[in-house]
Amino acid sequence: MTSRKPLIAGNWKMHKTGPEAVESSRQLVKLTAAVDQVDVMIAPPFTALAQVAEVLRGTRIMLAAQNMHWETRGAFTGEISSEMLISAGCTHVILGHSERRQFFGETDQTVNLKLKAALAAGLRPVVCIGESESEREEGKTFSVLDKQVQNGLKGLLSDDLKELILAYEPVWAIGTGKTASSQQAQEVHAYLRGQLAETYGRAIADKVRILYGGSVKPSNVAELMAMDDVDGALVGGASLDPETFSKLVHYQN
Ligand code: 13P
Repeated sequence: MTSRKPLIAGNWKMHKTGPEAVESSRQLVKLTAAVDQVDVMIAPPFTALAQVAEVLRGTRIMLAAQNMHWETRGAFTGEISSEMLISAGCTHVILGHSERRQFFGETDQTVNLKLKAALAAGLRPVVCIGESESEREEGKTFSVLDKQVQNGLKGLLSDDLKELILAYEPVWAIGTGKTASSQQAQEVHAYLRGQLAETYGRAIADKVRILYGGSVKPSNVAELMAMDDVDGALVGGASLDPETFSKLVHYQN
């Protein structure tokens, strides 16, 4: 058994206005008030962060942003810095989500810059990696993940790994209803942990939480979470409705 505390995280993507986000987070606070065996995190859009932070104040739900820039300030129109996220109340930031890679030119190199900037600022990064459908079909899953981890995490020290959360999100499973089987998820998670152990040592690798993301829903969450190396879920669609997301948080019941 591991000592890693499960984490259920909701990535709201480009959904919910400020008032909608406040209402959803209020409901979520009520629905998850009794949970203490599982960590809970939500990532609303930038425009709702400060308002949601007010709702979450004094609760156990953690607040994440969905992206950030690596510079602290400057002439970068449309970008948001780590210091802005912290002042809005964030403790975590999602980096390298496949939608950012696919649609907004995110690369392992920019993920690496952002990762270092987040750590330097004291924000905990949730770094997303994952292979596409064609990469899986061509048998390239592990080599793609190796490259994403090696380049994305380049220059990180063992100490930094204590702050890191990794999210394995196979691109073919995101928003498609096609979930990786629990065995497929476990196979990749164990592989990733093995790679981390080679670079940073087993003791540290054993502490890193590796989340699975891709069509997680109430009907499949328990099976995924039962896997030894699946330490949590990063949830898109099923995180938008507080009742549904709360069912995921209560997957042990
Ligand atoms: P879905 O849960 O909608 O498949 O999205 C997963 C995801 O991208 C979470 O970051």
